[in-house]
Amino acid sequence: MKGIILAGGKGTRLRPITFTGAKQLVPVANKPVLFYAIEDLVDAGIVDIGIVVPSDFPMGREQIMAAVGDGSTFGARVTYIEQDAPRGLAHAVGICQAFVGMDKFVVFLGDNFIREGIAEQARAFRDGAMNTILLLHRVPDPSGLGVAVVQDGRVVELQEKPPVPKSDLAIVGIYFLDHHFFEAAQGLKPSARGELEITDALSKLIAMGCDVRPEMVTGYWIDTGKHIDMLDANRLILDTLETRIDGTVDADSHVSGRVVIEAGARLVRSTVRGPAIIGAGTVLTDTFIGPFTAIGDGCAITSSEIAHSIVLDSSRIENIEERIEDSLIGRNVDLRKAATRPRGHKFLLGDNSSLELR
Ligand code: TTP
Repeated sequence: MKGIILAGGKGTRLRPITFTGAKQLVPVANKPVLFYAIEDLVDAGIVDIGIVVPSDFPMGREQIMAAVGDGSTFGARVTYIEQDAPRGLAHAVGICQAFVGMDKFVVFLGDNFIREGIAEQARAFRDGAMNTILLLHRVPDPSGLGVAVVQDGRVVELQEKPPVPKSDLAIVGIYFLDHHFFEAAQGLKPSARGELEITDALSKLIAMGCDVRPEMVTGYWIDTGKHIDMLDANRLILDTLETRIDGTVDADSHVSGRVVIEAGARLVRSTVRGPAIIGAGTVLTDTFIGPFTAIGDGCAITSSEIAHSIVLDSSRIENIEERIEDSLIGRNVDLRKAATRPRGHKFLLGDNSSLELR
């Protein structure tokens, strides 16, 4: 069985972070979200992995290739498959046909995240005679998602973002498929949003008489496409941290709860209340880091308070009096309160930035 991870796409919902980087590399608890997908595949015994990367976004493509390499650090063999433009999930899977051949395969959306892994479902699919397994997750309102209708242990109908859903079963972005998928994806027409939709291809599979089985995901499933979802995933993973203090904590600093302080990080008169992770080389001075916060490598944070947030590498935050919360702050961001008057706010914000002053 082979694995495919889709790591192209537009990433419009995570702008401006995605103007300068692949969204699949945004860290959750200081590890790129894409790495969790690779690890889930490897844990399920799937080591032959194709990663779809965007050739129309060379910066994102290069970053992914540099971060994952040939996959050997994960115990995987990675093949990169270039998608010329974000033409939809069915298109992204379709271009993997030569890589997959006649093998069974699992497609993992590179920004999807489930806590329980996929080892059990992979075993069932490897040993089973079904053509497809769709992972489903019960949600209160699936109207913005793909929805499955299940009858007598089979998936019999799919709906894409239905105004009136026929069930509360959302389709998770992890699909177990066989070669019939490529037949189904042929001749698809772009949807109203101009993409070849995976739901359309899967509906065709059902119409072709393929055996499409449901498997429930009972633990967490998070599609990290939006910043608030990234924060949720961050919260979940941080909650499983085991305390490890490799950096230095001075006599006037306090660390409580599950906290990781990476090597070279320094706490000076600061408090870190876990679960939280402080990246290598980051210096906290007169600062409070509250629960569910991940601070990347090489940051300098002085006289500020941050909680329930993600701060990427090499950012500087200084003298921000009000607590920063529910925030996703990119790389090399410089955020500080001026020491001199006139005070006022002075911004240099990238396109599609979002700033909320209270
Ligand atoms: P989405 O999050 O559905 O789409 P997107 O990346 O374009 O994001 P947005 O809606 O914010 O603009 O994509 C799910 C995953 O699939 C994600 O990892 C990107 C990847 N993908 C591709 O590889 N090729 C594609 O053509 C599309 C649409 C997505």
